[in-house]
Amino acid sequence: MKKFNLSAVLLFFMGLSCLQAQEKIPQVEELLAKMTLEEKIGQLNLLTPGGGVATGSVVSEDVEAKIKAGNVGGVFGVSSPAKVRQAQELAVKNSRLGIPLLIGADVIHGYKTTYPIPLGLSASWDMELIKEGAQMAAKEATADGINWNFSPMVDIARDPRWGRIAEGAGEDPYLGSEIAKAMVHGYQGEDLSQPHTMMATVKHMALYGAPEAGRDYNTVDMSRLKMFNEYLPPYKAAVDAGVGSVMTSFNDIDGIPASGNKWLLTDLLRERWGFDGFVVSDYTSVNEMVAHGLGDLQQVSAMAINAGLDMDMVGEGFLTTLEKSVEEGLVSEEQITKAARRILEAKHKIGLLDDPYLYSDESRPQEDILTEENRKLARKAATRSFVLLKKHNNTLPLAKDAKIALIGPLANDKFNMLGTWAPTGDQQLSIPVLEGFRNVAPNAEITYAKGANISNDTSFAKKVNVFGPRIQIAKESPEAMLQEALRVANASDVVVAVVGEAAEMSGEAASRTDITIPDSQKKLIRELVATGKPVVLALMSGRPLDISEEMQLPVSILQVWHPGVEAGNAIADVIFGDYIPAGKLTATWPRSVGQVPIHYRMKITGRPGPESGEFQKFKSNYLDSPNSPLLPFGYGLSYTTFEYSDVKASADSLNADGSIQLSATVTNTGDYDGEEVVQLYIRDVVRSVTPPGKELKGFKKIALKKGESKEVTFTITPEDLKFYNYDIEYVYEPGEFQFAIGGSSDVELKKSFELTE
Ligand code: NOJ
Repeated sequence: MKKFNLSAVLLFFMGLSCLQAQEKIPQVEELLAKMTLEEKIGQLNLLTPGGGVATGSVVSEDVEAKIKAGNVGGVFGVSSPAKVRQAQELAVKNSRLGIPLLIGADVIHGYKTTYPIPLGLSASWDMELIKEGAQMAAKEATADGINWNFSPMVDIARDPRWGRIAEGAGEDPYLGSEIAKAMVHGYQGEDLSQPHTMMATVKHMALYGAPEAGRDYNTVDMSRLKMFNEYLPPYKAAVDAGVGSVMTSFNDIDGIPASGNKWLLTDLLRERWGFDGFVVSDYTSVNEMVAHGLGDLQQVSAMAINAGLDMDMVGEGFLTTLEKSVEEGLVSEEQITKAARRILEAKHKIGLLDDPYLYSDESRPQEDILTEENRKLARKAATRSFVLLKKHNNTLPLAKDAKIALIGPLANDKFNMLGTWAPTGDQQLSIPVLEGFRNVAPNAEITYAKGANISNDTSFAKKVNVFGPRIQIAKESPEAMLQEALRVANASDVVVAVVGEAAEMSGEAASRTDITIPDSQKKLIRELVATGKPVVLALMSGRPLDISEEMQLPVSILQVWHPGVEAGNAIADVIFGDYIPAGKLTATWPRSVGQVPIHYRMKITGRPGPESGEFQKFKSNYLDSPNSPLLPFGYGLSYTTFEYSDVKASADSLNADGSIQLSATVTNTGDYDGEEVVQLYIRDVVRSVTPPGKELKGFKKIALKKGESKEVTFTITPEDLKFYNYDIEYVYEPGEFQFAIGGSSDVELKKSFELTE
């Protein structure tokens, strides 16, 4: 097999782009020339004066005095034009050189107009919508003074125990890369100095989504091959899309924490990928290298700056030790100048060096935040994120004059609609499901009962309620609540039960070893089913759940994640059929936690499990479970149905300069107009390193009227067939490629084509 190795050419062009990136900006160089070592180090210091949500045990002190002394490069957790102006004035009018501050924030799924959690929004597979969401978030956040965002989070996650799976785009590097690009473009626009755009930060570099045992912040140990082929692509896609900054992760990689990992931050990020922005640590992640066992604060801070970290979030290791390290020869002044230059260049890019008050326009919040138009977009985004997991007896959509029992701990709730990591959103503005039902179906007869607590476990509730009441345990006994719900159910034609996880049962430091619906609610569901009434579950969660038991029940299941501020309206839109659900899962749902980590790109192994799913000794399978997941990546139903036919390639082969068209006809065979996410999967049959069983290589979301057919075509070139080989060169290798086009990753690869030399 001959390898097509274009790395030499690529390296040449990359080298060129690095050179271009290094072109100096006169305004920045003038400042640098005037700066003392202390002032340069000051630019590398990122603080939070409190007021926001602290995600570590430290909150910054004496921020005002430090800004005046020129010891601060940026702050986060400060918002509103007036407060931001005040902060900028401290820097501009009081510090010796008057350098304005970066104003950061975690704007993860909307600023004030919160839209679905990222895992939910990714299930829309709609790149335009994702970009629009990011644009809206940028417009709102910049109206409130923010110029730098800590998003997108693009960590590939294949372990639903890990709570932060909620914040990303799921398990697949191809889809994850497309989403990373869409978000960077959405936040940053064409020109970062425009007041409606903000600088994006891709995070958490790197591999943060693969902690051992699914426990947050835990060690990651991964082969280079797996990193490059499976986990690094979305970070790279964000860098290629021009992301302004990169945030390091908490975990170690090959024994060195990301914040001090030179291979990661310099060899890979800067030299191989040509990144020319700046790198910020995560919250006290430099200091945490002490606990990791790498030395004292001075040592780890020196290690971090020498590795290529430019800015230190909250921990002040840089501020308090770097001068000493320069004196002692552990760090060169040049290294510090480089980092300061990158921070100043960012300030130049976003327009702050020309106008420190660019983001302090008092009239903007009123005009730009929580507008009707924005809420409309949030509602649309939520409807597009829902995934119909199970249909039973065509219960859905419901008639708008039905007699409905609306039941469940999440059915009339405002505290769990926004989802995790929505620190800038306002819970009180969210639309509960009950209200949404009344808005969308005013003629329906709706009776509500809570029916159960999210969990009856008070100590569990206490851990989940750190940011406020998410799990509220009622005064009534669980039995009394249940009886009331059954009475309401028995008096209705249909039951809609809104059940699942509280918002903070996923997110940071919210890992679970049991990913089922809590027992209190499982019991409620079983009892509701026993009434014999048709039952619909609207299921909320920030992760894939183990719903093996519920999938066996005669119920319909609509997965609604945490939908955002328009939750109730959006759920009602879909339940009553104003929008026909079309979302598809972007992370596999396992049969049990024993199957994790699980994803559709798994390798086949030398002893593949039997296709039948029957157990066979000395094959790669389980004694007590099939290998297949409960619900595969890419899966999602609709009220209508789709059929795929005529899957074909335009030719038998393509060569190095060629392309091939892979197509299928998709027909809407059901009773509703609908949308379908058409997915292309390819398998490289023989190659120099073991291939995944299949890989997503393209997708298109199409609308089809009832009875309508469309041909969907994907154009594939050798570039699309590349992978990282044993030497971590990005190559394609000639040979056979099998493919399939279908509505989920659970498609058989029946056709093939040849890539010739
Ligand atoms: C810690 C989180 O890991 C990161 O995603 C976030 O941006 C920072 N805290 C700042 O809030």
